Amino acid sequence: MVGESLLSRLLVTKFYFPVQILCFLLLSTATGRREASLGLATGSLQQEQQAWARPIDNGTIDLEWCTQAETPAGKVGCCPPRSTTSVVDFVHNTQLPSRLRQPVHLLSSDYIAKYIRAYELMKALPPDDPRNFDQQANVHCAYCDGAFLYANSTERLHIHRNWFFFPWHRWFLYFHERILASLIEDDTFALPFWNWDNQSASDPLPNVIPQMYLTNPVLFDDFRNPDHFPPRLADLNFVPGDGAPISDSKQREENNALMYKQLVNARTTRLFYGKEYHPGDSKPDGLGTIESAPHNTVHKWTGSSGKPHFEDMGVFYSAARDPIFYPHHANLDRLWTVWKTLPRNRKGPFRPRRDYKDPDWLNATFLFYDEKRRLVRVRVRDALKTEQLGYRYQDIHNAWVTARPSTAVSGKIQKLESVFSTKVKRPLKNKLTRLNKALGPLFRMFSYVPLNNLPTLFSGGGGDKSDDDDDDDEVEEILVIQGVELDYNKATKFDVYINYPNANENTPVNVVEFAGTFVNVPNSAGKGHIMETEVRLGISDTLEQLGLEDADYIVVTLVPRGSSGPVTFKGFKIKYET
Ligand code: C2O
Repeated sequence: MVGESLLSRLLVTKFYFPVQILCFLLLSTATGRREASLGLATGSLQQEQQAWARPIDNGTIDLEWCTQAETPAGKVGCCPPRSTTSVVDFVHNTQLPSRLRQPVHLLSSDYIAKYIRAYELMKALPPDDPRNFDQQANVHCAYCDGAFLYANSTERLHIHRNWFFFPWHRWFLYFHERILASLIEDDTFALPFWNWDNQSASDPLPNVIPQMYLTNPVLFDDFRNPDHFPPRLADLNFVPGDGAPISDSKQREENNALMYKQLVNARTTRLFYGKEYHPGDSKPDGLGTIESAPHNTVHKWTGSSGKPHFEDMGVFYSAARDPIFYPHHANLDRLWTVWKTLPRNRKGPFRPRRDYKDPDWLNATFLFYDEKRRLVRVRVRDALKTEQLGYRYQDIHNAWVTARPSTAVSGKIQKLESVFSTKVKRPLKNKLTRLNKALGPLFRMFSYVPLNNLPTLFSGGGGDKSDDDDDDDEVEEILVIQGVELDYNKATKFDVYINYPNANENTPVNVVEFAGTFVNVPNSAGKGHIMETEVRLGISDTLEQLGLEDADYIVVTLVPRGSSGPVTFKGFKIKYET
């Protein structure tokens, strides 16, 4: 048995990345962290600290609340210009022709000419015109780095790492597209998407930086990684400092497997969209699987390794200064629509994946300038159907949907100082007591924890699967890594494997045991700030493939990747959700 003091020591477990940083991230109290995040609190704002828990739409987000963004590169002023007219509420424009968003690699030369012309015009607008390209990039900077506060609140608004990730970016692209269309006076104009999830090996390659972003000065950006220019394939599980590239065929297999694990296996809304974030929440962080990878990974893969924060694409304050940001996000927006076509359940008759139904999400509002320079207030609920917004995506074969890895591996233990493994107890609904015989030897392989020689036996705690829920097909088993703390400013990444104790940073992801990944893009909430989050991964499918459905324990291995700062976490838990 694990004694109580030992258990409490185990509750804060540290593992280190290859670049050792000899300062522990201290666990600060919730109060301390909250105060620290209120960097712009003035005397009067402090008095309002009690008033933060108001509904989002009870006052809306107002440009009045826009202040300097705090980025890893310091404070950046990226607030949009003040509006001279009053805010209008968004209504769907049914007069617009329907627009087709096409893959960049298949665009016709006529279309490309039109696209380049639109960006020329956008870049030529006066600098203080909210439709100007730099102002567009600033919109992303402002919303992404906490320049806005929640209405009547001292809490900064965050649209990354939580349930606003998809709808906010959809709205951002919607207005960006409308502005470009109006500049070339062509209402059929639609943004293209960068189809990096398509691993087709025939020309033109979808999964490389598309030619027009390299050859045309209007679409080119100096701050990219030249090592990643074509024919180099995008690595959807990329992290800076991650060793030599692998062969193209391996890269394609790994990309497909990563897509499968991060999208197909993320069956529940919370897993895929990111966690709920209610007004006034001082801990907004809980990334959806797709935001970690491929979203964050492609950002970093594209940004310049010669710049301190992998500008432009590798850090959010500058990401939208690179024109490739927009097709990158159009693809993520498309993948949101693809995700909704996948079955929520694993076996039975098709049941659809769902949006959040929470009114705090549906009624949340954001402000954008439209093509007529009007400040428009939009709600999340009006962004849920692309057809309503007047566009759709060209159908593309999504090969990764069926790219479920079938190879399982096992092997001898390797003592790697930075890799952390532990046993996690599964609370089984059927209260199975029989120890899975095949697992016995595997448990005994675990006898170490890096750094401090603590035994790895860790009681994962009870789950919350209710006994009366018999619809197994609807229920997803979630591995929760609890109390994860890391530096917002560091490019942190770790991969998660199930029952693969000798996984290391050279282990491919196209193996059954790979459960998913966590990736942080430096996104400062101020220097020295700590992100506290849970990492959540859907593991039902993986456990079934490994024959572990009846197992009492699984072994979870965390493999830090690349060169980044330390992470601490408090423990593991198995949960079930629909
Ligand atoms: Cu708001 Cu891809 O970032």
